[in-house]
Amino acid sequence: MEYILQTQKLCKKYGKFKALNDLTINVPKGSIYGMVGRNGAGKTTLIRVITGLNNPTSGEFSLFGVKNNDGKLLETRRKMGAVVETPSLHPEMSAKDNLIQQTKALGISDEKLDDILKLVGLANTGKKKAKNFSLGMRQRLGIAFSLVGDPEFLVLDEPINGLDPQGIIEVREMIMRLNQEKGITILISSHILDELSRLATHYGFIEHGHVIKEMSAEELDKACRTSLHVNVNDTNILAEVLNGMGAEYRLYSPNEADIFTPMQVTPLVLALNEKNCFVNTMSERHESLESYFMGLVGGVHNG
Ligand SMILES: Nc1ncnc2c1ncn2[C@@H]1O[C@H](COP(=O)(O)OP(=O)(O)O)[C@@H](O)[C@H]1O
Ligand SMILES: [Mg+2]
Repeated sequence: MEYILQTQKLCKKYGKFKALNDLTINVPKGSIYGMVGRNGAGKTTLIRVITGLNNPTSGEFSLFGVKNNDGKLLETRRKMGAVVETPSLHPEMSAKDNLIQQTKALGISDEKLDDILKLVGLANTGKKKAKNFSLGMRQRLGIAFSLVGDPEFLVLDEPINGLDPQGIIEVREMIMRLNQEKGITILISSHILDELSRLATHYGFIEHGHVIKEMSAEELDKACRTSLHVNVNDTNILAEVLNGMGAEYRLYSPNEADIFTPMQVTPLVLALNEKNCFVNTMSERHESLESYFMGLVGGVHNG
């Protein structure tokens, strides 16, 4: 497999604190790579190191196969676009005029700007000034900035953070378009896990500056267990019956539970009925990305 970004035991220390601790990550060419971790896990630190805003303390990384200590890295970084901090927009200018400023600053032609505006879904904003944009529109204009240099690799630090549901859908669709129509490899970080599911093709789970698990969406799908979700009148009785069967389960409330051990439904319902435990509803469920991550790291998710 060809990789756009690889890191090898990357460390970044602030004083004695290791914000990145032997972090190893592999971003395949053509992927949408979801970097998932709680607040403070080290996501922004990693992005700052690979974009050149910070130097690593030790370890190495390569971008498009070029190592971080290679003189060619600076030139290679031109193939990468990133939105790390909120980019500074000109509030009194339209989306297109903002982009024209950006092309001037970079000394490149502005012939592709209409294409870029279309890609980020801002083609119809005309003379509307950036200061009157919604947060989602501003976020997408920020991403448009990073597209001006025609990148093959796009790095987005929590692009969905703070958006309303409509804004989330728009940014997700834009990310899909950039990946599918333009073939851009995308690294996207988030602490809100379910925003990345159905979007990412690969995942890296990061905790305390370390990647604890890397997997493809397919592998994740297989790893997430299917459960039988039940609503009953008394989960205490349910637990008693399931214990008797040696089944694995999780109780959520006096009425709700998930049963993980595959089993026949009829004998279970009959056994429950005998003890006056009545089943209200029953449905098959797929474990969510959130729940899988919780199982990996343990503890309460603080997102
Ligand atoms: N400049 C800095 N000086 C000291 N500590 C920092 C600095 N930047 C980040 N950190 C610490 O490094 C850890 C990782 O931060 P960060 O990469 O921003 O996490 P994330 O983006 O996953 O929320 C946090 O504990 C944070 O407080
Ligand atoms: Mg961050």
